[in-house]
Amino acid sequence: MATKHKPGSADTRVVGELYNRTGLRASPHAQAMLENAQIAVSGSPADFLAFRSALIDQAPPVGTMPRPASLSAAAKQAMSAATGEKTNVLLDQLAERLAFERGGTRLYETLILKHELHGSWSGGPTREELLQIRDEEASHFLLLERALQQLDADPTAVTPCADLGGVAASGLVQVICDPRSSLGESIEAILTAELVDNGAWERLVELSEELGYGELAEQLRGCERQEKVHLESARRWLTSRVQELAGAV
Ligand SMILES: [Fe+2]
Ligand SMILES: [Fe+2]
Repeated sequence: MATKHKPGSADTRVVGELYNRTGLRASPHAQAMLENAQIAVSGSPADFLAFRSALIDQAPPVGTMPRPASLSAAAKQAMSAATGEKTNVLLDQLAERLAFERGGTRLYETLILKHELHGSWSGGPTREELLQIRDEEASHFLLLERALQQLDADPTAVTPCADLGGVAASGLVQVICDPRSSLGESIEAILTAELVDNGAWERLVELSEELGYGELAEQLRGCERQEKVHLESARRWLTSRVQELAGAV
């Protein structure tokens, strides 16, 4: 599609129509707001820390691992508690990656749509690049689904790490799926996702090797290599965007 979007053009349009009034300097009530903030504060920092400490101290875990999905898997885990525990760590990490890759596929779907509607910028992502990464994220999801099934686990289970990963990534989903954010602003968020993803794939490969799942580790390494390319692409796109915004090119 022909380039019709200029980085930052959405911001310029909004700023032209609506003034940003978030700073104290823009408010005629600044002094009253500052005074009110002082009045509204009750309790000391020590009280606040004690309150938070009590909450953390008494809190239950975020979640627990599901029971083995089959009798044979349960029997294997029962034979050795230590092995069962290690396998659970791997399953938790695999489930987290599965959830992330599924979410990542949807995020790239949204980037493709924004690309279609707004176009890109010089050095920005092409439609083909976005489509390829979307397909790779989806294939990673499918690989992880198969891996979990081969380990007798339920790939639909939300494990503790999958739950936490979903919450951590929810801000990225909000930025990218916000209809107001431009393609460039959304790519800023995808860079964060790819950074997290790269670290997680590295850990997953290492863990699989350490636990003796050599064949699985080899498959995961293929995904890890593709993820490194995703990260490099996002960095390159953003470098060209910032240069264009700053008028350097
Ligand atoms: Fe990914
Ligand atoms: Fe990726």
